[in-house]
Parts: sequence; structure tokens; C-alpha cells
Amino acid sequence: MKIAHISDLHLNRKFRRRNLEKTERLIEFALSKLADHIVITGDISDNSNERDFADLRELLIKYDLFHSDKVSVVIGNHDIFGGVELASDIIDFPSRCEKTNYNLKVEIFYEYFRNLFDSTVTITEGKRFPYLKIFNDTALIGVNSVNYYSKLKNPFASNGKVKKSEREEIDMLLSAEEIRNKEKIVLIHHHFYKNSEAGKSSENSIWSRIESHTMKLRGKKKLLSLFKRSGVRIIMHGHSHDMRLYERKGIVILNAGASVDGTASSLFLVDIGQGELNISSEILPPINVKMSDYYNEPVVL
Ligand SMILES: [Fe+2]
Repeated sequence: MKIAHISDLHLNRKFRRRNLEKTERLIEFALSKLADHIVITGDISDNSNERDFADLRELLIKYDLFHSDKVSVVIGNHDIFGGVELASDIIDFPSRCEKTNYNLKVEIFYEYFRNLFDSTVTITEGKRFPYLKIFNDTALIGVNSVNYYSKLKNPFASNGKVKKSEREEIDMLLSAEEIRNKEKIVLIHHHFYKNSEAGKSSENSIWSRIESHTMKLRGKKKLLSLFKRSGVRIIMHGHSHDMRLYERKGIVILNAGASVDGTASSLFLVDIGQGELNISSEILPPINVKMSDYYNEPVVL
């Protein structure tokens, strides 16, 4: 199975006008490389705007990808709480977060991408995450790692948390007999960097400095232990805007958070099956450069 991994599209018609175009290019490229499945690990919208979800949905429909066996998505903090576009927004942001109905936002996200959840299995009926999606040789486990807003503990709404009850549900999904011999891949928004490594934000410079210090995933050690114990092979995430491949507890971890950052675009291609794992990172040209005029040797990892 060949999986294309992209993340943090931060779609926004007003402030990030080219992100949709870059996303389309990434999708076209993934299809040209014969990817069987596309994974998008959160922050689809920059400012939790339904228009952005609709834009991605239209794009997926255009390429006949709006099907559960073709694309998987998980939710990011910007899909629930949005972010800051202008320096003046910083003042309003806390009260905006306080008024946000977290569960309703998750439901809205689900409603826009309902078809992509068609074949998912969940532990609690009516709860959208965590989910399990089963393919021939592979199983995808989608996790919601976005923490609730808290003035004290999550003042910028960018920290992540996977609480005990969620971990127990993930454990149950990973223990399913049907996936015992399959390659297990976890999809989650937040990163597993060591606490000494700061994340990277793409927000304006003031916000960037603030947010990059508050991007941690609470409970990540316990989560990693669970993944190791359950034989998870790969974790795919975003959130921090780096293109990075690293390893924790023997698990291969991909961060595609820089997919539409800067002028170029990037994605991971993961070929997995029969014990073999091939990962390449691909950088696409800036959008004003024709693909045919651009040659970039993929980095095979
Ligand atoms: Fe994020």
C-alpha cells in the first residue's frame, strides 16, 4: 500500500489564498505517484472556518477521492479553535476559545468529511475518534489529540492531550483480533518531540513565538508505550511546521506539518507491505514554476 502523507493545510481564502492551490498540487502529485491512500493529519482550516472544510471536500470530490478507502483525516487544533491572523486578534483569541463549543466543532468537522469516516470502527457509538480503518495489510488508527481550552493549562489552545479514557479506547482498537497481523499506523495531529525540542508555528511572528512554546502533547510517554506494546509501526502527524522523520521507541514517526509552508510544498510517500517499508520525502516546486521545468531528486529515507 502506498500512502501519501500531508498535513497542516491551513486553508483560508482571505489570508492564505495559495494554500488551496498548493493542496491541489500535492494531491495531483500523490496521484501521479500512484498513491493508494492520502492521509491528512489535521489543521485543514486555518481559522476553524466551514468554508475551508467545504473547499477541501470539493477538491477531493473533483479527484474522485471523497471515499473512506481513498483518504483519511484527523482533526487539528486550528480546526476547532482557529488561530491568529493579525496581531490585534491576539487580544480576542482567549475569549473566542472560551466560547468555542469543542464537541460541536468536532461534529462539524465530521459532518463535512462524513464519507471519509464511512468504514471506520469506534468503541463508543456516536464518538468520531479514536477510529480504526482496516485495509488488506494495513490498519489506520485515527486519534483526536486536541486538548480542551484552558486559561491556565492551554492558554493558546495549541497543546494536545490524550486522556486515560481515550487511551483505553485506542488500546481496545489496537487489540482487535482483525488487525493482529496488519501493519498498524497511527494518525494524530500533535508531535512526539522531546520536551527540549520546540515546535514550529507558521503564524505571524509574535504568535509564532508564543505558540511554538505551547505545542506539547500531554500524556505522550504513556501513548508511546501503548503504541510500542501494540506493535504500531508508524505514526503520522503534523502540528509543528517541519518536515521531519524521527524515531521513538522503535516507531517510525513522520511529521508532514510543512506541507504547504513557504513557496514550495512537500509530502511523504510511504510504501508499506510484506515487512518492507520505503519512505521518501518529496519537495514540489513553487506554484509559479511548472512541474515539467523542475527536477528534484526525492530523498529516500
Ligand atoms: Fe496544529
